[in-house]
Amino acid sequence: MNDWWRTGVIYQIYPRSFQDSNGDGVGDLEGVRQRLDYLTGLGIDAVWLSPFYPSPQADFGYDVSDYCDVDPMFGTLEDFDRLLDDLHDRGMKLIIDWVPNHTSDQHPWFVESRSSRDNPKRDWYVWGDPKRDGSPPNNWQSQFGGVAWQWDEQTSQYYLHSFLAAQPDLNWRNPQVESAMLDTLRFWLDRGVDGFRMDVVAFIMKDPDLRDDPEPPTDEHPRSREHDDVHTAFRRIGAVLDEYEPARFSIGEIYEPDWLRWASYYGRNLDELTMPFNFTLLHAPWNARVFRNLVDSCDAAVPVGAWPNYVLGNHDEIRLSTRYGRGAARSAGMLLLTLRGTPTLYYGDELGIPQVDIPPKEQQDPWGRRVLGMGRDGCRTPMEWDSSPNAGFTAGEPWLAVAGGWQARNVDSQDEASSLAFYRRMLRLRRESPALTVGEYRSLDAPQGCFVFVRSTTGERLAVAINFELENRPLDLSGEVLLSTGMDRAGYVEHLELRPNEGIILRLQVASVGEE
Ligand code: GLC
Repeated sequence: MNDWWRTGVIYQIYPRSFQDSNGDGVGDLEGVRQRLDYLTGLGIDAVWLSPFYPSPQADFGYDVSDYCDVDPMFGTLEDFDRLLDDLHDRGMKLIIDWVPNHTSDQHPWFVESRSSRDNPKRDWYVWGDPKRDGSPPNNWQSQFGGVAWQWDEQTSQYYLHSFLAAQPDLNWRNPQVESAMLDTLRFWLDRGVDGFRMDVVAFIMKDPDLRDDPEPPTDEHPRSREHDDVHTAFRRIGAVLDEYEPARFSIGEIYEPDWLRWASYYGRNLDELTMPFNFTLLHAPWNARVFRNLVDSCDAAVPVGAWPNYVLGNHDEIRLSTRYGRGAARSAGMLLLTLRGTPTLYYGDELGIPQVDIPPKEQQDPWGRRVLGMGRDGCRTPMEWDSSPNAGFTAGEPWLAVAGGWQARNVDSQDEASSLAFYRRMLRLRRESPALTVGEYRSLDAPQGCFVFVRSTTGERLAVAINFELENRPLDLSGEVLLSTGMDRAGYVEHLELRPNEGIILRLQVASVGEE
């Protein structure tokens, strides 16, 4: 039960946007290292770094051209080692992004693969013959819009790309590919990383016969991704993480609304992923009943011995403070940090950085440039540190403009009543509370529009109550206020009225919890 990830909070850093140390307008590893005091003070346990690998940056690093190095834009392997050492010295863990489904089209493996049909690496990628009319081998669609097949003039075949044409899919059915990719895990594990966030990891296995997805296209892609054989691959990945002591951590990016399927990715013997990301709340409307239902379902679905997790923001999604509106943002943060499971907090959400509306012509994100409205730049704007130019993010020209309003929102300017102060208190409370970290979860019947649950261990019982409505709601609980989203309540309360969108944490008397 000593696994750090059961009690720990993961903090995601998008390295392009956190801190630039050399004035080129793009964040880097040394920049992250310079900000470790901030992370220590915030009270997080692990950093997840989005990709910093050598990459043509067609998808901002999710197009890797070398899995075992650092892009000069982000620094060097020595910078990486220094960052890792400094994080470890401060008692924090480091999780790095691993992109197993596809490489960059500039990766030497793909350069070889496409060079001729009899190249030894030809079968490292998914190649297919055209149909008789010249069209692609099947109807599979790219996640970024359009067909998932790119015609290769020189060798007269199509190759598969589930994302951009510049991101060809690896052929995980080839044992050489699997073994080369598992070695890339070992490369970083040997350097000391604590685990991996695994990019679209269930995409790695597709229908072996490349049969069509059902028509008309829906959000389900039963043939082009998540083939059941993925479990075998996950067990092999899990075995590599188990070669290390203590076993290293993995969290897989899998959007899976079916709870049984979702839970299956822990592995029947808990030997696959440490956890598949749980994105359900991220896509749910701000509604107490819906949230309660999802959390109850998740808690029930997690296999015995495995551990849940929750996410309310990342580099692909609308910023939390915009999604819920300012009034509810703190309550959303309180939920994220009090539910039973590992929370992943996205950089800047603790400040309340909003989603930025980036006009189509200024879109940098390849998805946003291809499909109107799909751009993800708006949640990737620079971290806001102080009131110097560009909020202290860079001495140069930032690759994306800092979100408007940063002068009043940056780390330095946040006062005692601010969002940052709230997150610091919330994280400290969480860290000091066995009930909030490892305790059991149980939801209570509550007034319409409120989500109320208890987290408990034998020695501690806390109630968390969130009002999702824009009106007051009575709360029939009594206890000592440990934290409220307004940070303006304290002491023992009985029958309090929750204000619009208010969230509160109460310490209940261990013996007198009335829900039994
Ligand atoms: C994941 C990443 C996203 C990326 C895509 C392709 O969804 O989170 O940013 O574009 O995979 O690698």
